Amino acid sequence: MATELDGKALSKKIRAELAHEAESFIASTQVRPCLATVLVGDDPASAVYVRSKRRSCERLGFESRHFPLPVETTQQSLLTLVAELNADEAVHGILIQLPLPEGMDSSVVLDAIDPRKDVDGFHPENVGLLALKKARFVSCTPKGIMRLLEESGVDPKGRRATVIGRSSIVGLPVALLLTHAHASVRIVHSRTRPEDLEAAVREAEILVVAVGRPAFVPGEWVRDGAIVIDVGINRLPTDDGKGRLVGDVDFEGASERAAAITPVPGGVGPMTIAMLMTNTLEAARLQHAS
Ligand code: GUN
Repeated sequence: MATELDGKALSKKIRAELAHEAESFIASTQVRPCLATVLVGDDPASAVYVRSKRRSCERLGFESRHFPLPVETTQQSLLTLVAELNADEAVHGILIQLPLPEGMDSSVVLDAIDPRKDVDGFHPENVGLLALKKARFVSCTPKGIMRLLEESGVDPKGRRATVIGRSSIVGLPVALLLTHAHASVRIVHSRTRPEDLEAAVREAEILVVAVGRPAFVPGEWVRDGAIVIDVGINRLPTDDGKGRLVGDVDFEGASERAAAITPVPGGVGPMTIAMLMTNTLEAARLQHAS
């Protein structure tokens, strides 16, 4: 039976350490780290995520400035807000919650963020620095995954790792980080032949799944002794109408084979927010130092 990789407990520990670091940073500089969150539209899942990011800021003594914008906001007025936040010295980190409403080009908007305030690590300059092993801000989910592996005593060196998904937010950066950690990395995605997908899962000693489809990976594909990182957060309908959160991996089946697996919820999700807080403090440090 697999050990559960408890992201909730680890993120609590990280936030406790951060609270101390933030306290001494604030005491010595009189600067309070400040994260600006921008939420366009009324997607309920995005609203929940942004609320927990803001709550995390407040608990750490960071300033949280929130900018809720109506769904009909134009890309031009969003760009104007980004320019204002870039110019505001009291704002250290800017987070634009994705996905943006249809009709907006998220790459244009994200590219407009000052890369020194890009705590999501999505700006081309930060992605380039990551690719060249000179990372400044690493996007939060991949960074959280690596920290979870590290704290669980998993060294990717020499291991076969498979990443399912090639998004800029998770798949690609986590593949880079695993490569930098000396794993042999295979990336598979929606255009991979089905037989190749199965083979790539079966060979994986470390498996990262970021697809967004419940039970996408059947338990019987999981290699004995594998480390399984499930990034999916999918809400399944239930009779009481509240819904149940599940990942992308058949958790019960995979648990019988894997050595360790992240639960959903309580695995990768809380780590993502903890890394956002880490990046926000780092952004405040960088801007204070310059
Ligand atoms: N939507 C889903 N994940 C993320 C994330 O890590 N950052 C932002 N800004 N939006 C997201």
